Amino acid sequence: MTARPTVVVTRRLPEPVETELARDFDARLNAKDTPLGPDGLREALRSADALLCTVTDKLTAEVLSVEPRRAKILANFGVGFNHIDTEAAKARGLAVSNTPDVLTDATADTALTLLLMVARRAGEGERHVRAGQWTGWRPTHLLGTQVSGKRLGLVGMGRIARAVAQRAHHGFGMKVIFHDPYPPPPEVAAALGAEPRATLEQVLSEADFVSLHCPATPETHHLMNRERLGLIRRDAFLINTARGDVVDEAALVEALAAGRLAGAALDVFETEPQVAPALLTMENVVLLPHLGSATRETRVAMGRRAIENLRLFFNGSPLRDRVV
Ligand code: 8YV
Repeated sequence: MTARPTVVVTRRLPEPVETELARDFDARLNAKDTPLGPDGLREALRSADALLCTVTDKLTAEVLSVEPRRAKILANFGVGFNHIDTEAAKARGLAVSNTPDVLTDATADTALTLLLMVARRAGEGERHVRAGQWTGWRPTHLLGTQVSGKRLGLVGMGRIARAVAQRAHHGFGMKVIFHDPYPPPPEVAAALGAEPRATLEQVLSEADFVSLHCPATPETHHLMNRERLGLIRRDAFLINTARGDVVDEAALVEALAAGRLAGAALDVFETEPQVAPALLTMENVVLLPHLGSATRETRVAMGRRAIENLRLFFNGSPLRDRVV
């Protein structure tokens, strides 16, 4: 790297990451941590060599069409990149990278957190204690659903789903089934105690817990529509740590309100940070504010991976995590 490239860092990042960025790049940090919005993103694309962006930056075809544009790479902080119009980026010769692997464990832990919380009514119990409503132990109080020995259905069997299967099968003694149009080799699935199913519908109708692990693409938009939600058993739960728009949130609200499934545990939403008001009132729903990868260790590792992508790009080396 000769001259220090200018990098607009769209959100605050953990301190060691910002320090490294400021050392190695002409880094424009976002001390106020306010999202840039379309105008700010256009200005960044016009004036910087690179953007280190996050899920809160909507890099649409319209935003990416800004002229003249100086930026040559979007180094995404995160593995999901559905907020970036990658076709438009590709058409304009703009490189896009992401940060896979380093957030697999943290996100799998979040999926298991949600699973346990919704099964054991942990959110409900916590609200009960905090509201001063706890009158004492009794054999029938807040009875939940046993997790051990139950069947977990994974929608998608990529890195995060495999880490979930590992924990669920080897940690909690769950039976694991999955559907993925691009399944892992049989020996990989077998080591996780996971059995493939030929269709998504089979997974939905057999599982006690359905956990979503597919990327958000035009094909998976509202994959969990009214009809497919209707295949989930009445005593089963839905868990989503993938992306909000994989689920038709209105159809989910309808299904929950009608008691057509036992509960849902969600880390992601269709129009974050808005959450369908009805969900806020439902005791059998667990809601987290997109915490999938939110550990200090993971967020630092994600930042370092994004920096590595920037270094490789500006050194003219092949990108390790090239998306387009
Ligand atoms: C990230 C995520 O923190 O990586 C992803 O795809 O969903 C999160 O864990 C978020 O996307 C930040 O950009």
